[in-house]
Amino acid sequence: MSFRVKRVLLLDGVDPVCGQILMDVGISVTTRNKLTKEQLLKEVAEHDGVIVRSATKVTEEVLAASDRLRIIGRAGTGVDNIDVQAATRHGVIVMNTPGGNTLSAAEHTCAMVCALSRCLPQACAALKAGSWDRKSFLGYELHGKTLAIIGLGRIGREVAKRMQAFGMTIIGYDPVTPVEVAAEWGVESLPLESVWPRADYITVHTPLLPHTKNLINDEVLAKCKSGVRIVNVARGGIVDEAALLRALEAGTCGGAALDVFQEEPPTDLTLCKHPKVVCTPHLGANTVEAQRRVAVEVAQQIVDMVNGRPLVGVVNAPGLTNATNDACKPWIELAQALGCLANHLSQPVETPSLTLNVDLYGSEVSKMEAFLGPALLVGLLKGMTQNGINLVNAPMLAKEVGVSFVVRTHPDKPAPLACSATDAIQVEILRGFKSHALLGSAAAGQATLYALDGCVWESGLTLGRNMLFFSASPSASPLAAIATQLMAVHAVVTSLLSSAPTNKEVWHVARTNSTVDLTTGVPGARLVAQVTF
Ligand code: NAD
Ligand code: MLT
Repeated sequence: MSFRVKRVLLLDGVDPVCGQILMDVGISVTTRNKLTKEQLLKEVAEHDGVIVRSATKVTEEVLAASDRLRIIGRAGTGVDNIDVQAATRHGVIVMNTPGGNTLSAAEHTCAMVCALSRCLPQACAALKAGSWDRKSFLGYELHGKTLAIIGLGRIGREVAKRMQAFGMTIIGYDPVTPVEVAAEWGVESLPLESVWPRADYITVHTPLLPHTKNLINDEVLAKCKSGVRIVNVARGGIVDEAALLRALEAGTCGGAALDVFQEEPPTDLTLCKHPKVVCTPHLGANTVEAQRRVAVEVAQQIVDMVNGRPLVGVVNAPGLTNATNDACKPWIELAQALGCLANHLSQPVETPSLTLNVDLYGSEVSKMEAFLGPALLVGLLKGMTQNGINLVNAPMLAKEVGVSFVVRTHPDKPAPLACSATDAIQVEILRGFKSHALLGSAAAGQATLYALDGCVWESGLTLGRNMLFFSASPSASPLAAIATQLMAVHAVVTSLLSSAPTNKEVWHVARTNSTVDLTTGVPGARLVAQVTF
């Protein structure tokens, strides 16, 4: 996979420090704001990377408009403005910077809780309008009240820490964070059903997912204490806005603080204009510090990727973290070469269904499981799918064309056949009536085949350039005939190597400078595959 990034498009007013960091390593940067859809499609097609905040929608249409795009960087947390599945299908990496704005979002949440308890925005607006009204704005202390935090991730836990300083009791719920871990942060983690009747304030800090959509709804609000206050600085849609408005109007909800909305900007302002609602236009991460931090982080992540350092923040292919490492490159090349050879050996295709069993032997190669599987699929599928295939989209495309695929690791076992290295990849391909077994290693820095269907090359066969694989019976001696046929078509043969025989078969492999058009057969041997690696 190529991680070359030469041109990056910077959108949505991402802090200029991002462009500076990229330009410092020689990446050319184009900064654009408020593009029409047509301009966006055109610009994206001319860049290898695009960096956005939340305004630009990176849709399937945008992705389909570009053969060049390799990376989408999100300067922020939520990737809901990016069609991540479509990006994966197009082989485009999606990266975010999840920690960069945590503190700002947590502080904004705490500010919202305070504003809500003391009617700060309403009182401020009244005074600005000339009204010295103290009676209408009788507030409540936070001390001694209970705050429920739904979603105890990065932001939720920072909110807990800060609101404890006000003397609030913190309860919460998170399906992933263990109860004991929450307890270490001073949070009593409870089932949701126990949370609702206890909370004076509820703040949500989950992503917007199908199971968190309308998490706070009519039914939940009916289970809450009368006068409960609701805060949403996470994502519009986690709180059902229509249900919230009903509860505010009925007086069962004592107030709400909203930074995010189902539709942004909201076209219906009824909720925002409600006297008990405090609202901000998605400002959770809108601080100088957070914007600078996410801009620096996303730029640095791209620079690291280009420089072969571990990938950070990849949303759609987390297994690729170490795939840029120089030491892994020969293994990725080997896996792709084995996949490609397995595909050619099992042609012509009698059935679309195909099974690939992959065994990784040795401790080093076993650590590469997450990306060697996709690398094998890249080699296998080359030419079989319409899309440009790479490590990002290979698993998804393989599934779609009916490849079933198993990778097993054997960190403590050396390779099963006489191969000089302990680390090796063994691939078995089963396709209709055909099956082949390949064993290779890249321990010496080059993609090398050691065995094919049990026939061994003790010193190994480097996989490269154009190679013709002839199968023969152990009793036949077709080497001279192979050489004669290749010379007859003016092929430049650089090597001709035979495997050790089994009692059934022997392989003879010719390496040539370019593809050979061998129309006539070779007596005593069968050309099974010709592969250009
Ligand atoms: P995070 O991934 O660190 O935490 C989210 C937590 O939600 C996880 O611990 C997860 O287990 C939990 N969760 C998932 N489903 C749940 C459910 N059904 N019930 C309870 N918990 C559930 O994310 P984060 O960085 O803390 O961000 C939280 C949210 O805040 C995201 O939606 C993010 O997009 C949003 N955000 C908003 C702003 C803003 O400007 N308003 C800024 C930053 C982040
Ligand atoms: C985020 O998900 O990072 C926030 O919503 C902030 C933003 O959109 O910039």
